[in-house]
Amino acid sequence: MLLFRQMELEDLETVKSIDKLTFPNPWPENAFQYELEKNTNARLWVGEIQDGEKSTIVALAVIWIILDEAHIGTIAIHPEFQKRGLGQQFLAYICKQLISEKITKIFLEVRQSNSAAIHLYQKFGFTIDGERKHYYRDNNETAILMSVPIKKSEFYDQFLLDYQFTYDSARKELQER
Ligand SMILES: CC(C)(COP(=O)(O)OP(=O)(O)OC[C@H]1O[C@@H](n2cnc3c(N)ncnc32)[C@H](O)[C@@H]1OP(=O)(O)O)[C@@H](O)C(=O)NCCC(=O)NCCS
Repeated sequence: MLLFRQMELEDLETVKSIDKLTFPNPWPENAFQYELEKNTNARLWVGEIQDGEKSTIVALAVIWIILDEAHIGTIAIHPEFQKRGLGQQFLAYICKQLISEKITKIFLEVRQSNSAAIHLYQKFGFTIDGERKHYYRDNNETAILMSVPIKKSEFYDQFLLDYQFTYDSARKELQER
């Protein structure tokens, strides 16, 4: 089955490898461990496909809580599992978790060129608040600032209903490897 759950120490090596595969400037070596062990304001989640004894982590996210707001520090889907609905299901799960913690607004920065992520956020109602020029040091790229108010709603359930379909197709691929 496909499930989303809190990240654990044993997940760190896989999480770091997905981070390296998905971002041009991956997090420093010990950053995920620091967030997991030391930062009480951080929430770390993974998406995992479980098939009998075998389990494969396919998604990661780190969110920082600031009073009643949440900042998406990072979110990624393993490249081999992108574009099949996992990102939106994961984001729906994250929103529901944050709502249960009484969070009322989510904000983030995203690279101007990252149209996949910008489209995903827009699908969830995020709007553009502004931009920060030269924000990304590796290529001097502009960051787009986005945010969305969140509240308890059936909107997120629509995405979470798709769990089984995504799981079935991902599981079939894993078995064929
Ligand atoms: C952004 C990311 C998390 C999306 O995950 P995903 O599982 O591929 O996304 P989904 O299949 O759930 O797609 C959800 C929506 O995102 C948008 N989207 C996803 N991939 C897209 C692409 N290549 N181009 C345009 N829009 C895209 C679409 O709006 C899509 O909805 P639709 O299928 O109804 O059009 C994934 O591409 C990723 O991990 N990228 C690398 C890391 C990253 O950039 N993270 C965000 C940092 S701010």
